[in-house]
Amino acid sequence: AGRIVPAGHAHGAAAQRATTAASNGPHLVMCPPEHYEVSYKINPWMDPAAWAVSAETLAHDARVGWQKLYDTYRALGANIEIMPAQPGLPDLVFTANCAVVLDRKVLLARYKCAERQGEEAHGRRFFEGLKQSGVVDEIHELPAGVFFEGAGDCYWDPHRRMLWTGWGQRSSLEARTAIERIYGVPTASLKLVDPRFYHLDTAFCVLSGGEVLYVPGAFTEEGRQLMRALIGPERLIAVEDADAETLAANSVAVGRDLVFGSCGAALETQLNARGYTVHRVPLGSFGRSGGSAYCLTLRLDNYALAS
Ligand code: ARG
Repeated sequence: AGRIVPAGHAHGAAAQRATTAASNGPHLVMCPPEHYEVSYKINPWMDPAAWAVSAETLAHDARVGWQKLYDTYRALGANIEIMPAQPGLPDLVFTANCAVVLDRKVLLARYKCAERQGEEAHGRRFFEGLKQSGVVDEIHELPAGVFFEGAGDCYWDPHRRMLWTGWGQRSSLEARTAIERIYGVPTASLKLVDPRFYHLDTAFCVLSGGEVLYVPGAFTEEGRQLMRALIGPERLIAVEDADAETLAANSVAVGRDLVFGSCGAALETQLNARGYTVHRVPLGSFGRSGGSAYCLTLRLDNYALAS
């Protein structure tokens, strides 16, 4: 066992900063699955009793999958900050939820479910450390009573230079006001109507060429119209049910490389035709919590200013 981050990888913010300048790759936050499990149920994917039956195998598979995800990002040139795991906070691995970061400004999560609220203080400490070491500049919080589950429900679209927010399941619609004030970029809000697609990132994925993968049934007709208007029908790629059910929309775009927990052959063909390469990482153990590649990843390198 021991550490699951590869030996020889530079830890600590200072070491990360030293390599940031030399790399054009993404700058990410991941949290190792040392205490990952499904021990409560806050979405339809989670079944603590089923997890318990094969807990050891599933925890092992989670470590293997997470390591492959880490190695895949490293091979794509990523710098990865490690958020420490903590006993009793199994969903901490889903770093997309702990905050959103744009222009080095952090907006911290405020979780709706009591089961995840313990992650908030942990996240705040982590980002204060990143601020002290100069990786981020500002840390913001939402007013009391406004729920917000980070990048999972606040999706930076570099193509349109705007933020898409998801609401109706976990995050509050009202979070949008603060998001616009903090970041000074336009936002568009999408209501989530299917409990299986409880975060925007489970049903929506912006690719580097401006195409968007989306699960049509996760949204209202109004939301789909808004997507057609802002994205254009030729750039909207519907994710079929079979892929949606393996959380294929929860993928991460690193330039023309797309990292998936799972991607069906037809979807892959479509993406290849548009110039993308599909990488698959076995993340089925995280699917049992309702998460896949995007959920396990937080980007620090979103910029609306400059570039
Ligand atoms: N079990 C977690 C939850 O229900 C999974 C979170 C997945 N994260 C995401 N960004 N979709 O909150």
